[in-house]
Formats: sequence, structure tokens, C-alpha cells
Amino acid sequence: MADGSVVIVGGTRGLGLELARSYAGLGRAVVVTGRDPVGAAAAAADVGSSARGIGFDLAEPASIAEGLAGVGAVDRLVLAAIERDSNTVREYDIEAAVKLVTLKLVGYTAVVNALLPKLSEDASILLFGGLARDRPYPGSTTVTTVNGAVTSLVRTLVIELAPIRVNAIHPAIVGDSPQWRDMPPERFKALVDRTPTGKLVTMEQVVDASRFLLENGGINGINLAVDGGWLCA
Ligand SMILES: NC(=O)c1ccc[n+]([C@@H]2O[C@H](COP(=O)([O-])OP(=O)(O)OC[C@H]3O[C@@H](n4cnc5c(N)ncnc54)[C@H](OP(=O)(O)O)[C@@H]3O)[C@@H](O)[C@H]2O)c1
Repeated sequence: MADGSVVIVGGTRGLGLELARSYAGLGRAVVVTGRDPVGAAAAAADVGSSARGIGFDLAEPASIAEGLAGVGAVDRLVLAAIERDSNTVREYDIEAAVKLVTLKLVGYTAVVNALLPKLSEDASILLFGGLARDRPYPGSTTVTTVNGAVTSLVRTLVIELAPIRVNAIHPAIVGDSPQWRDMPPERFKALVDRTPTGKLVTMEQVVDASRFLLENGGINGINLAVDGGWLCA
């Protein structure tokens, strides 16, 4: 097994934190990041003694390299952060849109740029998009846009960073994630009814698929939907 760490940007909560716990459970050194260094340190303490926390704001891309300066060799890089923006074309919140586009596209790319000298040839990178890419909903205009752009970002990173592998995961609504587990029952039921498996996907399934994309040496340039078959419906 490789010696470098697993860096999870947006690893202080939700799916990123769950993936951090999974890698820490394998004995891997893990770095979790969020906006606030104190919160990131607390999340790292929760993950375990092999984890450390770092704070920087992806929406301020010029500060990212400094934020990551203390990170050593990296084998696995996960870009999971999001600050959600409920936005429509008719009532367009420009500030919120610019923030999300900056953090998910420029911010993610600036992290890769900053860590590139620390990534080995065997390293792999995983970007988080989401099914809003293909299945918009009212208020998803910016989320749909950035998740679509993640698909393209994967492709250019594969070419520019070869032989480093780059993939993306696009989950449907993850029913037991902190973001959605308290949604109104009628919304939960409507989502379940639209999902061919009759169940919303789980954090455990997303972690398992993430590990597959990160670890399988033959997988490169894949945008994987984890959606219980929703795209077929
Ligand atoms: N949950 C789902 O059902 C679902 C479905 C489809 C796709 N996804 C995708 O999966 C990924 C994880 O989603 P999640 O629901 O698990 O997220 P979450 O629980 O909302 O956590 C978001 C993470 O992003 C960090 N973050 C937010 N704004 C940041 C900023 N400006 N700079 C740096 N870090 C920032 C947060 O850190 P701090 O709060 O500590 O700053 C936190 O660690 C996202 O990319 C999302 O689009 C999730």
C-alpha cells in the first residue's frame, strides 16, 4: 500500500467525513479540510489519531496553496466540498452563484494545482459532482451547472495529469446523509418512488463506490452515477 496520505477536501462533514473514516479504518493517514481550522481539527479528532485537519476557503482560491503548504506526499485526493446555492434563472442570486462556481470549479482545480508536486504517478483523484447534473430541480441552476462542469473537468484533468487517474462520482440524493436525512417524509417518498431500486442510495454505498474509483488502477476518466437506477427512469 502507498505511503502518502488521503486528502479529503470537504471532509469535515457528510460524505467526505464518512470516506475519511473509512480510510482511517484501514490505517491510512488522512487529512480532512473545511473552511475553519478549528472545525477541521475537531473533525480530524473524530476520525482518529491518523487524521489531521486543515482550514481554508475554496471560494478564495488565491489562498489555497498557502492553506495546503504543510501537506506532505499525497496518494489519494478527494474533492467533495460544497456550499449549496438554491438559485433560479428568474430570481438569480449572482453572489451565491459566483461563490459556488468559484469553489467547485476554480477552487477544486486550484487544490489540484497546489498538490500536484506532492502527488505520485500512482496517485488518483476523485471529484464529487451529483445527479442534479442530469436531473435538474427548481433552484438547482447553479448546482446543475457546476455538476455538469465536473464531468468536463475530469476529462481535461485525465489528459493533463496523466498517468495520474481522475474520476468523478455523481450520487443521487443520499437518503441518510446529514444534508437530507431530515427531509419531509412526503419528499422522501416521492424520491423513493422515482428510484427503480425503491430505496435512496446510502452513504455506505457512496463510500464503497468512491473507494472503487480511487483504488482500481484500470478506472480513469469515469463519471459514475450512484443513483439506484434513477437515470433509467
Ligand atoms: N448529500 C447528498 O445527498 C449529495 C448528493 C449528490 C451529490 N453530493 C455531493 O457530494 C459532496 C458532499 O456532499 P455532502 O452533502 O456530504 O456535503 P456537506 O455535508 O454539506 O459538507 C460540505 C463540506 O464542504 C466543506 N465546505 C463548504 N464550503 C466550503 C468552502 N467554501 N471552502 C472549503 N470547504 C468548504 C464543509 O466544510 P466546513 O463546513 O467545515 O467549512 C464540509 O466539509 C458535494 O460535492 C455534493 O455536491 C451530495
